[in-house]
Amino acid sequence: MGKPLIAGNWKMHGTAESARNLATQLGHHRFQEDAAEIVVFPPLVHLSVVRDVLADSSVSIGAQNVSRFPNGAYTGEVSAEMLLDQGCKYVLVGHSERRAILGESDQIVAEKFRAAQNAGLIPILCVGESLQQRQQDATFDVVAKQISAVIDLVGLEKVCQSVIAYEPVWAIGTGETASPEQAQDVHTVIRAQLGEAGRSTTLLYGGSVNKSNAAELFKQPDINGGLVGGASLEADEFLKIAQLVEA
Ligand code: 13P
Repeated sequence: MGKPLIAGNWKMHGTAESARNLATQLGHHRFQEDAAEIVVFPPLVHLSVVRDVLADSSVSIGAQNVSRFPNGAYTGEVSAEMLLDQGCKYVLVGHSERRAILGESDQIVAEKFRAAQNAGLIPILCVGESLQQRQQDATFDVVAKQISAVIDLVGLEKVCQSVIAYEPVWAIGTGETASPEQAQDVHTVIRAQLGEAGRSTTLLYGGSVNKSNAAELFKQPDINGGLVGGASLEADEFLKIAQLVEA
C-alpha cells in the first residue's frame, strides 16, 4: 500500500487572498513526508497563487476539473497539459457535483480520466451513490458501473494506477458521514473489482469527513485516506485530519 493520501477539495470557495492565507497556514506546517501525501484542490483561478505559496512545502496541488479534450477551440475549458504546467499533480474527475449538477456522464468522466492520465496527471476518480440508490440497495452496482465505464475506456491497469474516492452523495456537505463499516463495505467491493492489479491502489473516503470522525474511518483496512470538502477550508481542522495519519 502506498502512503495515505489526505486531499482537500476547496470547491468554489474563496478569493485569491483567502486561498493564499489558507495555503500559507498549511505551508507552515511541517508534515511528516513519509507518513502521508497531502494535496489541496483550489479553484482553478487560484492555482498559481497556491502553487507559489506551497512551492517549498511538501503539500501537492491538484485541480477540481479538467477538459476531456487535449487542446483547441473549446472556450472556457482547461486542458490537462495546462494543469500540469501550473504545477498540478492530481485532478478530480467524476465528482458527484459535476455528475449531478454539470451533467457529466460516465462516458465524459472516463474521457476526462484518460485525458488527465495521458498528460501525466494522477486522476482521482470520484464515485458514489445517491440516497435513493442506497435505499434501493443499488450502492454496489452504481459504484461498480461508474468504475467499469472508466475501465472500459482505458483498461484495468490504468485505473489501478489512479486514486479512487468513494463519496456517497448523501454524505457530501450534509454532516452525515457513512459509518466506517458502510464505507469499508464499499471499499471492499471496489478492491475486489480491481482484482490483483488494484491491491495497492489508493482508495479514499469522502463525505463530511472532519477531525472527529476521520480516525475511525482511516482505521478501516481499505480506506487509505480522505477527500475532505468543508473541513479543508479551515487550516486547523484540515491539519488535525492530516495529523491522524501521521501518528
Ligand atoms: P464535504 O466534506 O464538505 O462533505 O465534501 C466532500 C466532498 O465532496 C469532497 O470532494
